[in-house]
Formats: sequence, structure tokens, C-alpha cells
Amino acid sequence: MNPFELHIPTRIFFGKNKAEAFFDQLSEYGSKVLLVIGGGSVKRLGYLDEVISELETREITVTLFEGIEPNPLAQTIDKAAELGNRKEVDFVLALGGGSVMDASKAIAGLIHEDEKEIWPFVLGESRYKTMKGALPVVAIPTTAATASEVTAHAVISNKEVKGKAPISYPFMKPSASWLNPAYHTSIPLTATRDGASDIISHVIENYLLGGNDSPLADRYSEGVMETVITTLPKIEESPEDEALRGRLMWASTLALNGMQVAGRKPAPFTLHNLEHALSGYNHELAHGRGLATLYPAYLRWLLKNDRVTDRMALLGSRLFGIEYNDDAAGAMAFIQAFEAWLQENGLYQRLSDVGVPTEAFGDVADYAIKTYGGGKELSAAGPLNREQIIELFEMTENQHAEMEAAE
Ligand code: NZQ
Ligand code: ZN
Repeated sequence: MNPFELHIPTRIFFGKNKAEAFFDQLSEYGSKVLLVIGGGSVKRLGYLDEVISELETREITVTLFEGIEPNPLAQTIDKAAELGNRKEVDFVLALGGGSVMDASKAIAGLIHEDEKEIWPFVLGESRYKTMKGALPVVAIPTTAATASEVTAHAVISNKEVKGKAPISYPFMKPSASWLNPAYHTSIPLTATRDGASDIISHVIENYLLGGNDSPLADRYSEGVMETVITTLPKIEESPEDEALRGRLMWASTLALNGMQVAGRKPAPFTLHNLEHALSGYNHELAHGRGLATLYPAYLRWLLKNDRVTDRMALLGSRLFGIEYNDDAAGAMAFIQAFEAWLQENGLYQRLSDVGVPTEAFGDVADYAIKTYGGGKELSAAGPLNREQIIELFEMTENQHAEMEAAE
């Protein structure tokens, strides 16, 4: 085991009937809340009215900010912070998916710091890591995807510079989160699939690149992946089944709460670096969809370069029961089984299918290296330079053709 620190401060309330306990907790954070929502789904579905009613019953004054977009924009966050500042709110409540939760953390930081613009604080910009605190944030996640309800991170987009980059502070971890599976039965199928892809990414990245030193982190991560792999097809059959929704939701929270890496050696979040550059380029691209598009090429690229072959083979045996004598054969069987799962669950496509044409590959690689690689290169169990990133992106195009030819 490698040394680590772990701090999971979020008080988690899981289940529909935990509403009372969750809302009773909130007066600890103050009497004036900025309630942040996305493009209107929670309004249409009635969740917003329920939440406002619970807050008002407890004499918490609500200021509503509506209109956080998927891949939340810096400029929208700035506007919400201005409103929260003017209304002198005590804390921020996020009711929505990862985009709303991330925006809420950033808003809470801006208000606390009495600052007007979030973009200078993101990775790669002049004021990165200079925030001193944030208002308390509490969350009601309406997607199973990002684990933002427990993480320190907020990922911010900026259309003007075609960029997407995180801020991350321990004090941005939500103080309390209510995980209500009933609010997940309405998630559209595409967003459910995108979320499943994201959950897997949060454990598979470090599983592959984080070494062999923490067998318990391996089993923990395999448990998360196995849950997603078996639960998603069942949700496709019964999207309104709260038990299934709850299962996926809990897998999501556990996938990025810090336990998944405890004892591993530090490892980069390479697929995330690449994906953020892709959805920075195309603001309409959902994070989980971008990741799903990269998986097959990324795994095949690793195998081709004989990187973490043993880890892929191990994962294949644990997740899909693949028996193997030789690591390379085991790794290839794993990749094929995982690709088949992606195909069966509507998660298999080319980059050009998701709005990133081949002409853009160089610019996207440059952005990834500039923002996430300190201007030099990324890494994936070894260097991952500009040419290699472009090669990997090109593989998402070609290898799809190979699969079609094989059918
Ligand atoms: O905007 P509304 O109207 O709310 O609609 C949303 C949005 O269109 C809709 N939706 C959400 N919950 C729903 C629902 N529709 C019906 N019923 C519900 N219950 O779904 C769409 C997508 O929502 P979004 O919040 O964008 O999705 P997700 O949760 O996947 O969040 C993605 C964002 O989180 C970042 C991503 O980069 C991306 O910006 N991430 C945050 C992380 C973190 N904070 O730790 C880690 C992740 O790796 C990720 O990078
Ligand atoms: Zn992610």
C-alpha cells in the first residue's frame, strides 16, 4: 500500500424517505440559500417545487438561479455568483446533475472570495489554486455520473476559448447530499448511458495506471464497474425502477469519493484530460459520451504499446471471467468484451460522430497538452505526446470501421 490521506466530509442521506433528515440539517448552514438549477428539467418534473416547499417549511429564504447549462459556462457561473452576493446568501444548494453541482461549488467560491469571474481560477489560468474558502455547498444530484455530490472538483467550460478545466479544493466538498433515487427515474436514456460511462471511467483510469499495490482498491473498483455493467442494461428495460436507479446512483457516488484510489500509486487521469479537451472543443459533447468514444481506442493504444497489459488482463478476468495464459491475449479479450458492452448499450461511436472532426484533432491535442500536460505532454504509463494523442484519436475512426467489417 502507498501512503494516502482521505477526508470524506459529506453527510450522505440515501433514499426517498431521508428528505426530512436532509432538510432538517440545512439550517446548520444558514437561513438564506441560493438554489441553483439547470435548464428546467427539475422544474418540469416537479422536483423544484418539492424542494422549495421543504426549504420554506424550515423558514429558509430561497433565491433561485435557473439556467446552468450542461458543461457549465464560466459566464453563467459569474452571473449566479453576482445574484448570490447581492442577496447575501449563506449557502448554496445544487439541485441537478454534475453541471449544476460543479457550478454551485464555483459560485460558492466566488461569493466567499467576493470575486466576479471564475475563469482565472481554473487549471492553467493565472489564479489557479488561490481561493481561500467557499460558502457551504449542499447537493441533490439528479444524475448518476460525476460523484460531484462528494468530490472537491468543479469542471468549468468556456466557449470563448474553447476550453474546459477544473478547479479543486477540499473546502468545496459538499457538506451534505441527499441521494434520492426517485429523482433519477426521469433521466433520459442517453444521459443514463453517458453517466454509466463516466462512472466506469472514475475507477478504470486508476485501476489501469495506479499499479498493483492496493488489492482492496482493485476489488472495490471492480465492484463499482460490475455494478454499472450489470445494472445499465436492466435500467434500459425498466427505466422507472427506483431500486435499479438507486444502485447506479450509489455506484456513482462511490466511484470518485477517494476510496477507489486509496493505497494505489498516484496516477494521471489521462482519459479525463483528453475528454475535457474534446468537450472544450465541442461544448455540446456530454462528458460521459466523450469518454465512451475514447475507451476502445485508448485501450487498444495501450495494448499496442504494451502498457499496463497485465492490468487489462486482470480486469478482464475479474469483470468478464476471461481465462488467459498470456497477458496480451487476456488484455485483448478484455478490450473486446468491453467494446461489446459499449456497443450493446448504445455507447460506441467515432469522434466524428460526436462533433469532433478529424481536422480538429491537432488543436484538441494542443489544448490537452497545454492545460493538462504543463505544455509538454500527457502520460499514460509512459509519455503521451501530441503525435500519440492524434494517433489515438484517429484510432477511434479506423477501428470502428474494423469492427463494422468484422460483423
Ligand atoms: O439542465 P437540465 O434541464 O437540468 O437537464 C439536464 C441536462 O440536460 C438533464 N438532467 C439532469 N438530471 C435529470 C435530467 N433530465 C431528466 N431528469 C433528471 N433527473 O441531463 C442533462 C445532463 O446534465 P449534466 O449535469 O450536464 O450531466 P452530468 O451529471 O453528466 O454532469 C456533467 C458535468 O460534470 C463534469 C463534466 O465534465 C460535465 O461538465 N464532471 C464533474 C466531476 C466532478 N465534479 O467531480 C467529475 C467528472 O469526471 C466530470 O468531469
Ligand atoms: Zn468523469
